[in-house]
Amino acid sequence: MAPWAKAAFDLIGGTDNNPRNIMSTYNPTSPGSQSVEAPVTGEYLENGRYYPSYKRGQYMFPCDEEERDRLDVFHRMYFEARKGHLHSAPLARDRQVRILDAGTGTGIWAIQMADTYQNALLTGTDLTMMQPNLIPANARFLQSDMEAPWSLGETGWDMIHVRAMMGSIARWDQFYHEVTRHLLPGEGRLEHVEIDWTPRCDDGTLAENAAVRTWAHELMGVMDETGRPMRFDPPRQRQLMAEAGLVDITEEIIKVPFNGWEGDLADRPAGRFFFLGLKKGIEALSLAPFCRYKRMSPEEVKAVTDKVISEVSLRRNHGYCNL
Ligand SMILES: C[S@@+](CC[C@H](N)C(=O)[O-])C[C@H]1O[C@@H](n2cnc3c(N)ncnc32)[C@H](O)[C@@H]1O
Repeated sequence: MAPWAKAAFDLIGGTDNNPRNIMSTYNPTSPGSQSVEAPVTGEYLENGRYYPSYKRGQYMFPCDEEERDRLDVFHRMYFEARKGHLHSAPLARDRQVRILDAGTGTGIWAIQMADTYQNALLTGTDLTMMQPNLIPANARFLQSDMEAPWSLGETGWDMIHVRAMMGSIARWDQFYHEVTRHLLPGEGRLEHVEIDWTPRCDDGTLAENAAVRTWAHELMGVMDETGRPMRFDPPRQRQLMAEAGLVDITEEIIKVPFNGWEGDLADRPAGRFFFLGLKKGIEALSLAPFCRYKRMSPEEVKAVTDKVISEVSLRRNHGYCNL
């Protein structure tokens, strides 16, 4: 990390000052289950945003209230884009199922799944314990690094859900091997949902030199440099899944407009939430990558992101991203 970025740090947390996992009455009974890594809380301040202290520097994005809002708005965008479905992979309704949400964020998906499926036990893992305290009885949240060999003490998961984790994982080959090792043999499903941040446009309304194209190109370039790419390449991911032993791999692509443009009325709600999420979150997505790796000042980053937002707010620009 660049020294000037380090100088901007103000450590407010540190390690182990208030450890907690967030548990409901959910108490897994499977043999071999055990407590996971000791939780570590705390955040550090950099350029006005708070970042997780646990595995400091490993995750490039903040974990503060503003970011939690952004993650929840994005959750709504995924939900609208998927026409009100939380998942696509089939799930048994006639027996208890165990679902793991790896890199759960605010836990909003896991909580809604727990509310929806009373026969499901939900476990969300994250580097940051930023989930709410009040959670359904069939949910729990654990601090765990999913890039390290998994130490959950449980295998045989019916579903492993992974969403918006590009930019978080350096070795997807290892990650998918852990998934295979932890799924219920022959029946367990991985559901992996990502935004492909490459801006697209089918009708020429988004200029080739549009600020959003430059921003996305530069952000993905920087994230490549960090070793945890944000670039989503479906054929590559499919290949890694297959090499890890996953079978029957299917892919669904959904176009999500940058705003509520009216070309396809069915996409308007998703587009509105995408715009709101971008407006709330583009700074969080850009600050650390650009300040740490491109040596930009926060003011310079803001000038770039303001330009992107004013551009994508124009409904005459029919840009979109693939989900
Ligand atoms: C962009 S957020 C997505 C959150 C959630 N999956 C969603 O879609 O709302 C990525 C999350 O992954 C977590 N994360 C990053 N690296 C991780 C790791 N190695 N192990 C566990 N969680 C990780 C971050 O703390 C963050 O909450």
